[in-house]
Amino acid sequence: MSDRYSPPPAFAARARINADTYSALGLDRVSDDDAERLAYWSHAAEALTWRSHWHTLLDWQAPRARWFVGGTLNATESCLDRHLSTWRRNKAAIIWEGEPLQGERPTEVRTLTYQQLHDEVCRFAGALQNLGVETGDRVCIYLPLVPEAVIAMLACARLGATHSVVFGGFSAEALRDRIHDSACKVVITADGGARKGQIVRLKDTVDQALSDQRTSSIRHVVVLKRTGHDVKMVPERDLWWDEATANAKPLYQAVYVSAEHPLFILYTSGTTGKPKGVVHSTGGYLTGVSRSYRFVFDHKDQDIFWCSADVGWVTGHSYVAYGPLCNGATIFLYEGAPTHPEPNRFWDMIERHRISILYTAPTAIRTFMRLGDHHVRRHDLSSLRLLGSVGEPINPEAWRWYHDVVGGGRCPIVDTWWQTETGSIMASPLPGLTTTKPGSCMKALPGIDLCVVRADGTACDPSEQGLLVSRKPWPSMMQTVWGDDERYRQAYWSQIKDPVTGQPWYFTGDGARFDEDGALWIAGRVDDVVNVAGHRLGTAEIESALVLHPAVAEAAVVGRPDEVRGQAVVAFVTLKADQTPSDALKAALAKQVASEIGSFARPDEIRWAGALPKTRSGKIMRRLLRELATKGRVDGDLTSLEDFGAIAALQKDDES
Ligand code: WT7
Repeated sequence: MSDRYSPPPAFAARARINADTYSALGLDRVSDDDAERLAYWSHAAEALTWRSHWHTLLDWQAPRARWFVGGTLNATESCLDRHLSTWRRNKAAIIWEGEPLQGERPTEVRTLTYQQLHDEVCRFAGALQNLGVETGDRVCIYLPLVPEAVIAMLACARLGATHSVVFGGFSAEALRDRIHDSACKVVITADGGARKGQIVRLKDTVDQALSDQRTSSIRHVVVLKRTGHDVKMVPERDLWWDEATANAKPLYQAVYVSAEHPLFILYTSGTTGKPKGVVHSTGGYLTGVSRSYRFVFDHKDQDIFWCSADVGWVTGHSYVAYGPLCNGATIFLYEGAPTHPEPNRFWDMIERHRISILYTAPTAIRTFMRLGDHHVRRHDLSSLRLLGSVGEPINPEAWRWYHDVVGGGRCPIVDTWWQTETGSIMASPLPGLTTTKPGSCMKALPGIDLCVVRADGTACDPSEQGLLVSRKPWPSMMQTVWGDDERYRQAYWSQIKDPVTGQPWYFTGDGARFDEDGALWIAGRVDDVVNVAGHRLGTAEIESALVLHPAVAEAAVVGRPDEVRGQAVVAFVTLKADQTPSDALKAALAKQVASEIGSFARPDEIRWAGALPKTRSGKIMRRLLRELATKGRVDGDLTSLEDFGAIAALQKDDES
């Protein structure tokens, strides 16, 4: 059938997992059987470098999973040291290309072998140690996508310090909240980054974030010289990266930590105004990312793997840094914007560097599709052998374009479903095995349980849409919300229970269905989280930002479908009685959101509302607003509305 794509025979024949190896390795039996599943994960964990072996594979007391109890390790030994005793010592670990800053410098390319990366990491770990960073401390990383971002992450891990990477697009306010929440000791940043020919003044933003008592935990700021423009250096507190490393004694001896030691915290949006610090372990996390990288991306030593995500998102943690490096892969990094300076930037780099695997987001794919095939077709992309998609549902049309135009019809596509919380890919085709359907992420990976259920926990029938849950713990699952175990339990383990035993299950927040063939289709979030261009935003977070403006009485934010970016943000705003609506006020509100969260969170549309539609108990009826934002009108049952007038007025507004 034309809507199914079986793995190209040439690909399947050489694939790590294909029909033969799949059953030979017993992978077909793994998901259903508890003992098989645990044996599978035990085997996967053996592929890491451990200092001492675990005595208990899993201690599971929902919602707390302790994997590999008693085991000790250092993440960087699995990512770096172990390759040094093999031929990979001289293999490229990172090939990086910078974005040219307007006329100032030619395209810059840097390559770091595993040996060189190891050296840089040990040296920077020594520098952090000099600055008083100790095992267990938190370090904030706020850098552009340069090799030093990966070096800084690994240097923290080398010391047993927990890194908290904050995406460079976040504002000073957002950075301050995150530094405060996990009481970071050091910030690692750069003078600036390059974005579409402009300088993003990261150091200025850090200074602004630190101009407040709430960040008093910070002792030092390490500044990488990237753009070379003038920045203010605060004596005693700030020092340049080069100064910090110049007289540091490299930390060749890694610090061993327990398998459960927090490798990193990554903040993500939830259903309240306050972002959650998702905590990931060391042993379990690495087991998940190294195994999934190997199987889903069919890891081969000859590959050059490009995951286009920023290290500020989980995709950048798991598949820019930890997963590929555990496998001794060569990763490609690109600092800048996908279409800068020309729309063919991606394809030009794939051709020049002979990149073999591209892992990117549907928003990027749809953007390229709109720009036209000719930008792609000009380039020799014959080095590509596998394509990946992540972050949002990919529509079949974009899938086929990716397959035909970018992949030349030769490359399987892996549509990978997962979350910040899951740490690693949970559902995806295995590219040498799975016959795929465009738009479906197909099937849970071996060792992963995924189930679609109704609100009461009973299983949905095939094709019936329900809620996506995981009934079994997996090694790379988040451990908790930083400093808030109760929020962890509430947010993920309180909504859905096993209808028979009453055991809580992990609720993903996504709606989904399995079709008649057992293929998994993700419908998107069912909670108050929107996904704009693969960026996850909490509607409550944007609302909190809006109501901080003195003119605003109330705000409700919803997502509406957007052809390119998946979803767009629409804000309904009620002004205080003495305020008059104006375009200038709209601009001021958008600016308010940019300064509270970051420019990427600016609403696409702000609509004035005389009043917001509420239930009798005073809850804003977001469903109605979503309908209004999407279709321009509201059908259906309005009987629980406090004030019909509110909706009527919004609809009338829409017609005018
Ligand atoms: C949410 C998680 C996974 C890393 C990047 C985003 C959506 C993610 C897919 C996919 C359909 C997807 C889900 C999920 N999502 N991948 N392949 N197909 N939807 O991580 O910011 O934690 O967001 O992204 O809605 O819950 P995140």
